[in-house]
Amino acid sequence: MRKKLVVGNWKMHLNTSQASLLLHRLHERIKIYRNIEVVLAPTMLVLQPLSLQIDRRKFRLAAQNAYSKDEGAFTGEVSFTQLRELAHYAIIGHSERRIYFHEDLDMIRDKVTAAVRNDITPILCVGETKAEHRAGETKQVLHDQITSAVSNLTAREVAEMVIAYEPVWAISTFQGDLAKVSQIQPMFDFIRNQISELYGKRTADKVRVLYGGSVDENTARGYMDLQGCDGVLVGGASINYHKFSEIVKAAHRSQTAVEDKDNG
Ligand code: PGA
Repeated sequence: MRKKLVVGNWKMHLNTSQASLLLHRLHERIKIYRNIEVVLAPTMLVLQPLSLQIDRRKFRLAAQNAYSKDEGAFTGEVSFTQLRELAHYAIIGHSERRIYFHEDLDMIRDKVTAAVRNDITPILCVGETKAEHRAGETKQVLHDQITSAVSNLTAREVAEMVIAYEPVWAISTFQGDLAKVSQIQPMFDFIRNQISELYGKRTADKVRVLYGGSVDENTARGYMDLQGCDGVLVGGASINYHKFSEIVKAAHRSQTAVEDKDNG
């Protein structure tokens, strides 16, 4: 059975000592849960020190970004190859990267490919803007973002990856409208169907699909209880240790309820 995944995207917040303190506080509050996985995505600067401090039974690390070439004259960039020993996951195609840093479909495909080549699991973010949402283009946007991002991967590689559905209009950075749970379910079904059409049902059953967009300790459970939801990608609330540890507890409860149901 797929575990629930809770990813904290710390974005460009916290210096080394602040990040270390946050990790310490999370460590105090979060237990070892066998049925969920907690992933922290600090800034690049902080990945190395946190990797020394982290309790690997509780947490895994993710990079927020990296460059698609493995090595070379690319001033200012860090490669997935350099992150191999540090990060288990990498967030790729976050809307802030697509919008502020003009990452297009080809760049994101190359990053997903590079992550997999370096044994780092991609957390591919997809989602439509408010204008696209209003124009009824959501499914077309998701289709294009997904098919191009995975186009260099095998079915086995896709089965291992994570896709986060993050409607841009629901992310705190941009607008932060709360998405209704009922709005999200059809998009989850659509994403899994896309993968099924491209790679077959077995792959679609394995790929993990998350929700992200202004998730906090009050809304997390509603999203996580959706059919086919494997967890949440949390931005703003993830740098508050109280909120984030409550979200982790909600994931544990949600997953335990699924297991209880399956076991009759
Ligand atoms: P938010 O961010 O939870 O602050 O809306 C989500 C994200 O950026 O992944």
